Amino acid sequence: MLYTRENADAFVAQRKYLLKDEYRLNYHLISEFGWMNDPNGFIYYNGEYHMFYQYYPYQPVWGPMHWGHAVSPDLMTWKHLPVALAPDQTYDRDGCFSGSAFERDGRLYLMYTGHIVTGTDNDYRQNQNIAVSEDGIHFEKLAANPVIRTEQIPAGVSQKDFRDPKVFERDGAYYVVLGSNDGHGSGLILLYRSFDLVDWNFIGEIARSDGKLGDNWECPDLFELDGHDVLVMSPQRMPAQGDDYHNVHSTTYMIGRLDILQSTFSYDRYEPVDYGFDYYAPQTTTDERGRRIIMAWMETWETEIPTQLGHYWAGAMTLPREVVLQGESLVFKPLEETKAYRKNGYETSDIVLSGIKDMDVSGDCYELEVVFKADQAEEFGLKLRVYGEEETVLSYRQAEEKFRFNRDKSGIGLGGERRTRIAMKDGLLALNIFVDKSSVEVFIQGGEKVMTSRIYPSTRSLGIQTYSDGVCTIVSFKKWDMMK
Ligand code: FRU
Repeated sequence: MLYTRENADAFVAQRKYLLKDEYRLNYHLISEFGWMNDPNGFIYYNGEYHMFYQYYPYQPVWGPMHWGHAVSPDLMTWKHLPVALAPDQTYDRDGCFSGSAFERDGRLYLMYTGHIVTGTDNDYRQNQNIAVSEDGIHFEKLAANPVIRTEQIPAGVSQKDFRDPKVFERDGAYYVVLGSNDGHGSGLILLYRSFDLVDWNFIGEIARSDGKLGDNWECPDLFELDGHDVLVMSPQRMPAQGDDYHNVHSTTYMIGRLDILQSTFSYDRYEPVDYGFDYYAPQTTTDERGRRIIMAWMETWETEIPTQLGHYWAGAMTLPREVVLQGESLVFKPLEETKAYRKNGYETSDIVLSGIKDMDVSGDCYELEVVFKADQAEEFGLKLRVYGEEETVLSYRQAEEKFRFNRDKSGIGLGGERRTRIAMKDGLLALNIFVDKSSVEVFIQGGEKVMTSRIYPSTRSLGIQTYSDGVCTIVSFKKWDMMK
């Protein structure tokens, strides 16, 4: 197979009719056809949001990575553009892996990892490359690639895992963070600097796992927020800690301080970015309004995705979320742009609830805003996508102050439960929930914690129920269909 941008686009155009619609999301970014993973090159450029992504158009499985490309005026409605990068050079022949975007003198630059398989036993090398575009659509790879060569990896660090460049500018210089590991089970982050984008120098290793944070770090993203430096990254094979980090691979953030002279990123603690089943490799950008926006791949590696069989597509992006510093933590909020997509509003309030209640509304593509007052209830919550035996259960237990997302009866695909501790506020629990065909995103207490998961219910599972074990009050229940 000759991997070129043109071949990829032509293949997709010819095969698109095969797509099965059943689980395709309506107001989330998904690929036109085939496989999608990490968000890449997220940027607000020339008045539009650009999102690139890891893309294998030929089958709904991971393969030699291309960069898919979509643009949006509001991060909700996306238009697909031609494939931006194909693995068509010697230095990236087995994949154009994840990376980021930046603007310079009106041009759009992409920096990405070239992946080269060197042997039969999954040995590989990785390097960093740049491509540039005048129009934000067609990209040319620099003649100087690779701009960071495998030989520029310092000693004592994996000579294989060296990927996912995220570029940022500080004090007139370009910096890039890269994910790696020490070869002995600890993930780490490397920092390089350039003044001209072609010559890059190693500055230092700015952070390393304390032994509990996974054996390889992927997709680092280092940015400033309200005078702090924030590091978001995706540790592989991080062991669970209490209710947290139960997925095979996780995401975490640290609020700290980057000291470039000392080449250290110091931080006190780390927190999960999301508490659900399907959230990985997030990337952030800022827009003209100064918001810091984060999007992630709404999947988990090394699981079977039901649409891989017979549906011709796999993978989706989460909703874009605004990252806000609140006290010592980050909160993640849905963007206000989502409100323009609300249709058929429904509202009810002050319902005394005991047992199960069918709500008067239903759907598979909607937003809910629900406020519960716990009163004497031991457990209360919502059942979504209900029909017959099928249901997806979101519940809260007062005694242990835990919120649960249970997808054991959600349909086909993986089951399981994720839990997280969160306190009631003045006796109230506020939920903002987005359902889109095969996804559920739950913003708890104004985004203090978010749970993101994929589910695959039957098309008939449209019911919405509330329930309470003991008596509680639904202070308010609002529902909108979400439409394009
Ligand atoms: C994260 C990741 C990256 C890599 C890409 C390959 O999900 O493993 O580290 O660049 O996916 O598709």
